Amino acid sequence: MIDPRTTERAAALREQLNHHAHQYYVLDAPEIPDAEYDKLFQELQALEAAHPELLTADSPTQRVIGQVLPGFTPVRHTVPMLSIRTETDTTANGAVAFDARVRRELALGENDPPVEYAAELKFDGLAMNLRYELGLLVQAATRGDGETGEDVTQNIRTIGQIPLRLKGIGAPVLEVRGEVYMRRDDFEALNERQLAANEKTFVNPRNTAAGAVRQLDPAQAARKKLSFFAYGLGDVQGWEIPATHAGMLDAFAAMGLPVDHDRTVVQGADGLVAFHKAIGEKRDSLPFDIDGIVYKVNSRELQQRLGFVSREPRWAVAHKYPAQEQLTRLNGIEIQVGRTGKLTPVAKLEPVFVGGTTVSNATLHNVFELRRKGVRIGDTVIVRRAGDVIPEIVGKVAAEKASYVPNFHMPRTCPICGSKAEREKGGIDYRCTGGLFCPAQRKQAMLHFAGRRALDIEGLGDKLVDQLVDGGIVLSLPGLYKLGVTKLAALDRMAEKSAQNIVDALEKSKKTTLARFLYGLGIRQVGETTAKDLARHFGALDKLMQASVEELLEVKDVGPIVAESIHTFFAQPHNVEVVEQLRAAGLHWEEGDGANANVGPRPLLGKTLVLTGTLPTLSRDEAKDMIEAAGGKVSGSVSKKTHYVIAGEEAGSKLDKARELGVAVLDEAGLRALLEHDA
Ligand code: IVH
Repeated sequence: MIDPRTTERAAALREQLNHHAHQYYVLDAPEIPDAEYDKLFQELQALEAAHPELLTADSPTQRVIGQVLPGFTPVRHTVPMLSIRTETDTTANGAVAFDARVRRELALGENDPPVEYAAELKFDGLAMNLRYELGLLVQAATRGDGETGEDVTQNIRTIGQIPLRLKGIGAPVLEVRGEVYMRRDDFEALNERQLAANEKTFVNPRNTAAGAVRQLDPAQAARKKLSFFAYGLGDVQGWEIPATHAGMLDAFAAMGLPVDHDRTVVQGADGLVAFHKAIGEKRDSLPFDIDGIVYKVNSRELQQRLGFVSREPRWAVAHKYPAQEQLTRLNGIEIQVGRTGKLTPVAKLEPVFVGGTTVSNATLHNVFELRRKGVRIGDTVIVRRAGDVIPEIVGKVAAEKASYVPNFHMPRTCPICGSKAEREKGGIDYRCTGGLFCPAQRKQAMLHFAGRRALDIEGLGDKLVDQLVDGGIVLSLPGLYKLGVTKLAALDRMAEKSAQNIVDALEKSKKTTLARFLYGLGIRQVGETTAKDLARHFGALDKLMQASVEELLEVKDVGPIVAESIHTFFAQPHNVEVVEQLRAAGLHWEEGDGANANVGPRPLLGKTLVLTGTLPTLSRDEAKDMIEAAGGKVSGSVSKKTHYVIAGEEAGSKLDKARELGVAVLDEAGLRALLEHDA
């Protein structure tokens, strides 16, 4: 006989663990640290091991199951899993046409009110039928041919977001349908792990999710973090189905199922068009891939009146967006030389329309990437471009790794200056050893120096730098300050007025800050934040230039690699000379005595802020500078650790996320108030 207190404890642990799993996986709002969760988990595991009769099907310990399956058992769907008609017109007209069809089929006249629709995202994963009996997950099946799918219960149980027991529902049968997918960040993390282990990387989140679900070894499936969104219903017995689709989704959410927040209810064609536009704008910032959106007539009664044509409901349609992946030919590979001499292979593609623009180049971070993907010049490759992201080659169709023989090799000399190209010991990048002798490096160094976050020399862009370097007019950074109106105006397509503007900009840039100057020098490993930390710590340039590696290591966040890089930089006489010449040219800033220097009040010390949207008067850079000067940190994404989100016009998903997590949201005035608050 088990002590009733043990039974009670096991039940309490199950409930607590299920609650915390829901907070963590579905709501993204954990209430306890991971270690605490693990402790509870292990306690339950131990109880179940000692008393196997305590083990229940909904026990959180049942999520990972060790045994490898011999194959998948076919499952006949009680209610067939249908697909929906796809509207191929990717413009707003697609939405208008669907509404017109619905109205025609419902015999609605012009004066009848608009039809109400539930609008949601079309998740790019694979459809899944989850069968709950008396609230317990008993089976998960793929769509298959719509009539018969495969039993993948074991693998689906490893998905933390899918409740093993529904909250507050004891219906004999409730089949929930939805999409299993992989978030982009989880996909990238997986590929990073693959890379680190020298294993093949995956092509895209959808294929990876589909592959994981059909893994015969659930332990392998569990290695890929999958997610789920509920969007539909299968067989139902003993549950009163809500009168609207939106009502059903709300009911799902209340049962603990993940339902996407971007769902909404709209009226008529105008509402659909507005949703299509809004999601189109935020598509690239979503944490997962979608290939379109779905419109569904909201009322169940109207859905029933509309019925089906050739196994597709008349009441729903998928409205696509332009594809973010396309096939094209890899015509060749060129080498670009960066500021630090890094040679980067750039793929030259047969121009292809993808993600809304024509793409003819894609970066390949290094030559090994090609090898890993089994790509050769002349191959048909998959090109992906999502939003502002630089186009990339994600792989090729049916890559055969075994027989791969590369037909591209990195050059042994710099294609620009002919100096030797070398690979660092243990590194993967090839670098031109020409340093500032190499015109490509000189150009990049100048552009970096003139950049907005460095010396901010307006007008000194690509074209001008090309002319200055190629014409041998400016040989080094200090040379920039010797430029006069006459010399500049003599350049091709340069009006006297523009020449004067550049001279003025150069003059203006002379008054700067130590941090900007340091950042502008382009020392390897020294980004903007490190430059600021160095300036704050040392206060004066000479102190920094004379610092030993040990002294450099005392600076916040500076590790051995960074310290070494800074030390090496200032140990080179020609670098010191450049610095001296720049000072001689009149570059100046205020110096202090470093860490002990007077810093102003730092009301945002230890606070993390996220900026989103357009603020009425401050640019993003200005806001960032002000926050950092006040001791705060600016992060690119919202999490539980974010203290404030500063939102302006057209704030997107970051604002939604802040609201979801209950993070304080302020406008520009609110930010200014924070900055003035002398805490
Ligand atoms: S509803 C009867 N809603 O797209 C309606 N499907 O052909 C059944 N999908 O196989 C589907 N997101 O895998 C629906 N919000 C969504 C969806 C969605 C993705 C997939 C699903 C289905 C295919 C439709």
